[in-house]
Amino acid sequence: MRCDLMGMTRGRRRGRRPAGAVLRRAAWLAAGAAVLSAGVAAAQGYDPMRPPQQQVPGAAAPETAPEVDPELGGLPVGPGAEDTFYLCSACHSISLVTQQRLTDERWDYLWTWMIEEQGMPEQDAETRETILDYLKTHFSAER
Ligand code: HEC
Repeated sequence: MRCDLMGMTRGRRRGRRPAGAVLRRAAWLAAGAAVLSAGVAAAQGYDPMRPPQQQVPGAAAPETAPEVDPELGGLPVGPGAEDTFYLCSACHSISLVTQQRLTDERWDYLWTWMIEEQGMPEQDAETRETILDYLKTHFSAER
């Protein structure tokens, strides 16, 4: 009789175990996720100038992070970065630019739209080409 009761108790305990295991597993997963997001938040906290497109969750991390210039709003280093920064951050945050991934055609269109609709001063042909090349190289939907 006593043995049967113990057996039943053990049986009930065994019956409950999987649910407990699932709960513990969920707790560990939640803890893991919290640690991960805390890590990401901490990593992002290092550089307030980091361009926002690098913070998009799930975005594939490039194998070698592009070198960026903190003095130019975190724009990738390259020919045209300076011209782009001073022209394009005059009216709005440069992050409005860096978060874009556009086709070449769309960048050309945006350039015209910025001039005709938003009052951006037209640039000489050389500056225009330098900046558009820069935008198409670094913020492209095509390459
Ligand atoms: C004369 C001011 C001015 C200059 C200079 C300027 N912009 Fe803009 N830009 C604007 C305004 C105004 C908007 C609209 C903001 C809004 O809709 O909230 C805008 C919006 C944008 C957008 C968002 C478009 C969208 O689809 O919402 C992009 C991208 C952009 N600009 C890129 C650039 C780039 C690249 C340059 C430099 C070549 C530039 N801007 C220079 C005024 C300017």
